Amino acid sequence: MRVLVACEFSGTVRDAFIAYGHDAMSCDLLPADIPGPHYQGDVRDVLGNGWDLMIAHPPCTYLSVSGLHWNKRIEGRAAKTEQALDFVRLLMDADIQRIAIENPVSCISTRIRKPDQIIQPYQFGHDASKATCLWLKGLPNLRPTNSVAPRIVNGRPRWANQCDSGQNKLAPSPDRWRLRSETYAGIARAMASQWGSLKEGDRWLSQNGCGLFSPATCNPANVAENLGAPSIGNISPNANASVPVTQKTKVIKLSNVMVEVAFGDAGEKER
Ligand SMILES: C[S@@+](CC[C@H](N)C(=O)[O-])C[C@H]1O[C@@H](n2cnc3c(N)ncnc32)[C@H](O)[C@@H]1O
Repeated sequence: MRVLVACEFSGTVRDAFIAYGHDAMSCDLLPADIPGPHYQGDVRDVLGNGWDLMIAHPPCTYLSVSGLHWNKRIEGRAAKTEQALDFVRLLMDADIQRIAIENPVSCISTRIRKPDQIIQPYQFGHDASKATCLWLKGLPNLRPTNSVAPRIVNGRPRWANQCDSGQNKLAPSPDRWRLRSETYAGIARAMASQWGSLKEGDRWLSQNGCGLFSPATCNPANVAENLGAPSIGNISPNANASVPVTQKTKVIKLSNVMVEVAFGDAGEKER
């Protein structure tokens, strides 16, 4: 698979894909921390170079919910938020079959669309909490690989990177943003092992759109999980237009399978 890891200087996701045998390159305005295939420059220069998958980590400074209150107090900051959103739209709309955009909880959710998934490093083997949103195209949700239990403080879960109050422990410093923005290695490995093993023609349904499944990867549990639906009524390897559509189900016609999905409320998840 040819993989572009956009807006990455650490080489973490790039090297995870290379370890799984893929042809991966990182790209950032900054030089790479670790030697390896890296384009130092604007990602727009290389977006059209024939990638099978792009994972992008666009800057969150002017997008993250925690900083938006400054937009009213600092002149010109709101315009930077608009520019940052335009950059995200450009990445989301790139002509690449599979795309994952990663960002913290941000105004992408309200201004563009809700994320398909919110993951935590503690679901991928790290003793750390950091809500990370994923906007996916042509990709299944990431499956957690290794759950790390928290300590409990006054009834609340806390992980090693958090004070008892829940704040991040990292003290202010010039490179705090760098340390905070690096992708966790366990998440990078999960992306490489799960997304790197998709085959040509495999398509996935996301909660926000219609994707397609190949029969090889199509099992009811995965489909239910990817749709956020409580159950899957029927999966047939042959498209069959006569599958009944009831008030509480929707038949989704896929390239080579027919999936009947049961929803809690009629049409609740229908888009
Ligand atoms: C939040 S950091 C992501 C860090 C990443 N998770 C990692 O592990 O290296 C965002 C990065 O986007 C880069 N960036 C911003 N605009 C860019 C552009 N037009 N093309 C390429 N990289 C860009 C910045 O230099 C910054 O390093």
